[in-house]
Parts: sequence; C-alpha cells; structure tokens
Amino acid sequence: MMAGGRKAFSLAARESSILVVGGAGYIGCHAAHALRRMGYEAILYDNLSRGHRFLGKGFELIEADIFDTEILSGALKRVSAVMHFAADSQVGESVQNPRKYFRNNVEGGIALLNATLDAGVSKFIFSSTCAVYGVPERSPITEEMPRRPVNPYGMSKLFFENALEACAPAYGLRSVSLRYFNAAGADEQENIGELHEPETHLIPCALKAVTGERGALQIFGTDYPTPDGTCIRDYIHVSDLAEAHVLALKHLDGIAGAAQYNLGTGEGASVQKVIATIEEVTGTSVPRRLAERRPGDPPELVADPSRAQAALGWKARRGLREIVETAWQWEQKMAAQTARNTGA
Ligand code: UFG
Repeated sequence: MMAGGRKAFSLAARESSILVVGGAGYIGCHAAHALRRMGYEAILYDNLSRGHRFLGKGFELIEADIFDTEILSGALKRVSAVMHFAADSQVGESVQNPRKYFRNNVEGGIALLNATLDAGVSKFIFSSTCAVYGVPERSPITEEMPRRPVNPYGMSKLFFENALEACAPAYGLRSVSLRYFNAAGADEQENIGELHEPETHLIPCALKAVTGERGALQIFGTDYPTPDGTCIRDYIHVSDLAEAHVLALKHLDGIAGAAQYNLGTGEGASVQKVIATIEEVTGTSVPRRLAERRPGDPPELVADPSRAQAALGWKARRGLREIVETAWQWEQKMAAQTARNTGA
C-alpha cells in the first residue's frame, strides 16, 4: 500500500514536472515562471555558459551540459516533458563561426533529443525561430511558406525541426516547434529580463545608449524598401512567448506528431518606430547614428500568428509600448545593481 502510494505520488510529480533546458537564459527563465504560475514544476537545466544563475533564482537548477548524458538522463527520469531553449542565437556570429552552431545547436540538440527518447519522455517543446524562413517572399509569414534559412543559425534550427518531425512517426514523439519572431521586454513581476553578452538586439542596445552604458545606437540601414527606410520586425513580449509554451504543452496532450507555430503579434514596427517608442517611454532622446546595413538582415519579418491562435488559443496580449516599458524597468534595475556592485 505504502509502496503503491509512493509510486502514485512520484508518477504524479513526474507528470507535472518539466525540464527547462537553458532555463537560466532569457526566454527559458520566463517560461519557468509561466509554468509555475500555471501549476507546473519547472526544473532548470543549464550549463551557465550564456545563462545566469540569478535568472533561475527560486527554482531547482541542475548545472550541467546537454552533452553530459548521465546527468541529463537522471534529470529526464523526473519529468514528463522537455522545453528546449539551450542554443546559440546570434545570426552574425553563426556566419563567422558556423561550427559553433553545428556543435551546440545541432549536435547538442540531438544529444538532448536522444536522451529524451531513451528516457521515454514523449513531449517536447522547441524554441525555433523565424530565421528558418530566410528572406520570405511575402509578409506576413505563414507556417506553410518555404523554409529556406540564409544563415547557419537558421539552418541549425531547421535541422532540429526536421529531426522532431522524423521522430514523431518513428518513436511516437509529440512536439511543438515555436517559431519566435523578435523576443523583447521583461516580466512585469519577477526580477528577470534580457541579459546577453555581448548584447546585439535593438531594444536593449537603444536603452543602453539612453543610460550611457553604450555609445550611440547604430541604425543599420535607412535605404530598405520600407516606408521609413529602416527594417521592420514583429516584436513580441517575452511573457507572451512564455505563456505560449505552457499552452503548447497542454496542446501536446491532444495531438500526435509534430506541429509548428509562429509566435508574433502580426504587427510590424520599423527601427525608427521602436526608437520613437523608446523616446516616449524614457522621455529621453536616443543617441544614434546612421550606419551601413547589417549583412543578413531581411527588410521585413512579420508573423501571421493565426495558426497559433486557432490551435493553442494564444494571442499576444502586450504590444510595443509594454515591451519597451518593461525592458526599460529592467534596464534601470540592472544599471542600479551595477552601480551598487561597483560602489558608484
Ligand atoms: N538594429 C539596429 N541597430 C542595432 C541592433 C539592431 O539598427 O544596434 C536593427 C537590425 O538591423 C534589425 C532590427 O534592428 O533590423 C532588429 O535587430 P535585432 O538584432 O534586435 O534582431 P534580429 O531581427 O536580427 O534577430 C531576431 C532574433 C534572432 C533571429 C532573427 C531572425 O533575435 O534570434 O530575428 O531574423 F534569428
């Protein structure tokens, strides 16, 4: 009776536990909080090469690498699903150093996938990207459009999407690949936010130009075929992204096979529009200068998010203003912390 009772309890614990691989990174830690808010237990798994211990505060953190099969297998025995956020994600770096992307994103991803299958875990949520589409023929982008990545980062993500698709009929793996557009912003309640080293993304770079932590923001190209000449992107609040992961997890209980969904707002904003919003929110002019186009930047990437809306019941609830407001709060918190640490 006792033994049976204990077993039932541990099975129930396993059912509600999710391994968040890359859980001490920007999007992974937001997903962990979203899981907790919706009644799941998140166990974080991170080698802290890009993640930060403090972003995983309040959660169990297994500090290990995805190539460490023994530790990974032990962790997988305790969970019913995997969310995979552990990847390198800089387009420019991937062009300079493709081997790094093939090693970490492809080989590392496959190591995780094999361990997941071996552990009998049948639910998998994958952080994919709009970079799988390359330079799309039309905007907004639907999931049926061809996947023709134009850089090694996008290629590595496409490889893994394909691997998930192959594992569905072969091993009964159920998976969702979530193709993020431009993730930005920070959680409204927790002490978490965007923290990349080096930082290359538009919104944090512009905010650091406002605080003086960096020099003037460079605007990469003003001669694109867009209304104001600057690139258009679909900025999506990280908390909206995080919530989509939990909905995708629930969705996996009702599907067989591999599904893919775009996660964006469906609204594009140009670099100039983002700068104008930052100026409204901060009440400060963004120091900036015009620069050459950055190689590999498509003029416009905007999601058609209707498939995610229909299948997951998900819709982005926050817009550009909320993204910039929360990113600004986070930037100020981090600046204050740095000042305390350096005694400035
Ligand atoms: N930009 C600037 N100045 C900067 C930084 C960015 O003008 O200092 C511009 C870029 O040229 C681009 C836009 O701002 O037009 C957004 O750039 P980000 O670097 O913030 O984001 P990306 O669109 O390059 O990258 C995002 C994701 C990647 C993903 C890619 C797909 O972060 O993971 O979309 O194209 F692969």
